Amino acid sequence: MTMGKPRLNRLITAGEIASIVKNLADRISRDYDGKELILVCILKGGFMFLADLIRHLRIPVKIDFVRLASYGSGTKSSGQVEITKDIETPIEGRDVLIIEDIVDSGYTLQFLKERLALSNPRSIKICALLEKKARREVRVEADYLGKVIEDVFIVGYGIDFNEGYRNLPEIYYVTPSGQEKEKG
Ligand code: IMP
Ligand code: MG
Repeated sequence: MTMGKPRLNRLITAGEIASIVKNLADRISRDYDGKELILVCILKGGFMFLADLIRHLRIPVKIDFVRLASYGSGTKSSGQVEITKDIETPIEGRDVLIIEDIVDSGYTLQFLKERLALSNPRSIKICALLEKKARREVRVEADYLGKVIEDVFIVGYGIDFNEGYRNLPEIYYVTPSGQEKEKG
């Protein structure tokens, strides 16, 4: 992505994120009542979402992490996903919920879901904070979805641009100052 000095425009406030996350946690707690859930968080972008989500869950959980790489360069998915850090928790016969920051083309989630399914979990579902519907290239649906957003490139709340901005407590869309709207 070629960008001068990026300008950050607030898209989702900390308050709205908190209520979205609480809502998702309530639904998950209800649906998995009486079960123990294994949350598999996709690094790095999902870490803040996971941390907030699990504080609201009222069911027993275990957490684990995967690190996936899909963007070789630029911001358009190559469609080729590779795993650079695998889970360490056995998931055979378990209820698994994938935790993802944002669904874009869908390649990342499709890859991970298929890969985790090879270990024969009892169930496998997806929880995504955000989704860019217009960008979907493969059929994969989040079972729990926080919010659908426009086709903009976003940062903050764990989500990065060139590894920066993950610490921001709110979500911003990025525009290059003085240029046209950046397309994610
Ligand atoms: P997909 O495989 O194309 O669905 O890509 C999903 C991944 O791309 C997410 O896990 C994010 O890490 C990254 N991504 C997608 N959209 C954005 C964005 O707007 N800002 C930052 N990262 C993004
Ligand atoms: Mg990610």
